[in-house]
Amino acid sequence: MATGRARIAASILDADHANLGYAVKRCEREGADRIHIDVMDGHFVPNLTFGPKMIKGLRRRTALPLDAHLMISEPGRYIEEYVEAGCDSITFHVEIEEAIAPTLEKIRAAGRAAGLAVKPGTPLSALEPYKLLLDIVLVMTVEPGFGGQTFMRDVAQEKLPAAREYLSHKVHGAEVHVDGGVNRETAELVGGLGVDVLVVGSALWIKGHDMGREIRLVKALADAGYQYRLNEGRPPIPRDKMARFTQLPREFAWKFMAEIEAGGIPVIALRGGGQSNPDGSQDYDLMVPATVEGLTIERHGEARDRYRAAADRWREAYAAEHGWTAPRQAR
Ligand code: DX5
Ligand code: ZN
Repeated sequence: MATGRARIAASILDADHANLGYAVKRCEREGADRIHIDVMDGHFVPNLTFGPKMIKGLRRRTALPLDAHLMISEPGRYIEEYVEAGCDSITFHVEIEEAIAPTLEKIRAAGRAAGLAVKPGTPLSALEPYKLLLDIVLVMTVEPGFGGQTFMRDVAQEKLPAAREYLSHKVHGAEVHVDGGVNRETAELVGGLGVDVLVVGSALWIKGHDMGREIRLVKALADAGYQYRLNEGRPPIPRDKMARFTQLPREFAWKFMAEIEAGGIPVIALRGGGQSNPDGSQDYDLMVPATVEGLTIERHGEARDRYRAAADRWREAYAAEHGWTAPRQAR
């Protein structure tokens, strides 16, 4: 099962076209989340690729969802064929010169996800009239037509956050896709810009490269980018990192730990490097996850001062009554 946030749609544009059945199986085996199919008509873009019949054939070869990216002038004319071929989502370009809404409606009526793609030079505002009909916004970060082109950073920076905004009416299931020049060099950036699906093409088909490793890398980098963003640009705090909240003698530590945990913050008590006490014991470290250190201080900072003061009073009283016992050896 996919973990993390980012999803990888493997574009088969740069695969061996004589062996596409094998290509989609390989993508599936190597951990891709979707198959991205670039349909080109030699008219909307200066390149020609696959049609619905081929998609229908591929449908049987993989359990992965098929995302069709139609770079064709007349999607309205052929839309039924693509639905019928078994595409899970169909995205076409907003720059076409025919009515757009009816085609989006047809896709949705068939129970598939409907998307619009924007070329690098097209402002996102072109999508405005169709906002409520969209499940997917596909932002192109290269000119459509070919794999292996250079990623357009400015376009990504400007459009990806805005695209997410465009889909804010749809609380669940809406997706921003980025397509063009996505690889290990650019994944962290687009992840940080909140993209949901990264279309990766040529980077997966380099001879002698391990496709699975490439997919895992791009995904991990995109997720790391997203975490940075959540953390306001600072390096993300690893989820397993613990921070010392305070040190207290055993009785105090146990009581305080229960108080903190009652509010849902997990605490680990470590017999540790705390100061020595007159009864021969050593203070315990109370550790909380570093990700919630701030919250713990906010909630329990004052209590921490009280506990520390109480521990001091106990030490003094104990020492006055019994004197100091030599520190016990840690068991
Ligand atoms: C280009 C296609 C892309 C292409 C991306 O028009 O829409 O899906 O496969 O290839 P890379 O990842 O090499 O830019
Ligand atoms: Zn594409």
